[in-house]
Amino acid sequence: MNKLTIITPDDWHLHLRDSPFMEAVVADTARQFGRAIIMPNLSPPVRSCADAMAYRQRILAALPAQSHFTPLMTLYLTDNTSVEDIQAAGESEFIHGAKLYPAGATTNSAAGVTDLAKLDRVFEAMQEHRLVLQVHGEATAPEVDIFDREKVFIEQSLCRIRKDFPELRIVFEHITTLDAVEYVRAGDGFLAATITPHHLLINRNAIFQGGIRPHHYCLPVAKRERHRQALLDAASAGEARFFAGTDSAPHSKDAKEAACGCAGIYSAHTAVELYAEAFELAGDFSNFEKFMSCNGADFYGLPQNSGTLSLARNEWLVPDSLPYPDSSLVPFRAGETLHWKVVDGE
Ligand code: DOR
Ligand code: ZN
Repeated sequence: MNKLTIITPDDWHLHLRDSPFMEAVVADTARQFGRAIIMPNLSPPVRSCADAMAYRQRILAALPAQSHFTPLMTLYLTDNTSVEDIQAAGESEFIHGAKLYPAGATTNSAAGVTDLAKLDRVFEAMQEHRLVLQVHGEATAPEVDIFDREKVFIEQSLCRIRKDFPELRIVFEHITTLDAVEYVRAGDGFLAATITPHHLLINRNAIFQGGIRPHHYCLPVAKRERHRQALLDAASAGEARFFAGTDSAPHSKDAKEAACGCAGIYSAHTAVELYAEAFELAGDFSNFEKFMSCNGADFYGLPQNSGTLSLARNEWLVPDSLPYPDSSLVPFRAGETLHWKVVDGE
């Protein structure tokens, strides 16, 4: 197979940051995707509808001329999120969900939720207003091993939320383990998961290959090979509950290559091509379009995009770095050869 044409895909989990950084990255996503769920972990976070609407306007202003890209907004849940905030979000055509960051789990999560029990009325309101709960599913207690955080979160938190709010639509974001794949498979139509291109392509060895590799460090951290295999299987098998969400998370080269480097992998530059590499590894493109362009829209209750995106088999070299204010940005697979290239979108 030398050419792939799919319905214009969507990215169901994306970090765009804010001006002036957003201007350096937004065109990469807009070139390939029709829409993206825009993560709210700015500093300060996107907590209210007013915050989300203002951020949306800044994104629209940063888009290249003629772009048809649509940002889909989500609120950042805190201990103080109110039922009124959720009601207002539910009434907004631009806000599609709310994101749960356990406090301390990742970048800009300090204002996240310290005790899930405090959110019961918020979850109830989200269920009523049919907002999607996007979950960073990692337990944060210091005694939990970093490689077990996802599994422990399922056991300690996600099972309880699902039991108490059975009709709350939940996206278990950027899953990294066989445990998460099995949990989502065993669920129902109210539960789905996003899978990143990097978790389909690397296992945890990549973080330590010949030395410490900060550009392969993200959260949740990559796991063992058997977990990567499980993710690849879930993505490529065409199951409706799994779909693309890059978690592309730009941090400057300086912030990554530091004594305490930031978590996040910048994949937006080559996102669809990276997913194509992964499906090629799986040896089956028959469900590529479902994973990239259909399953997510169906779960979010949105129409599929009307355009198409084409990729051709074509070897090309990913640049070593990209422009970024005051520094540079190292894309995933920098300096390596990819075998698929986006050739046109309409
Ligand atoms: O690696 C990550 N980077 N994981 C997250 O959950 C957040 C993200 C970021 O914002 O940099
Ligand atoms: Zn993320």
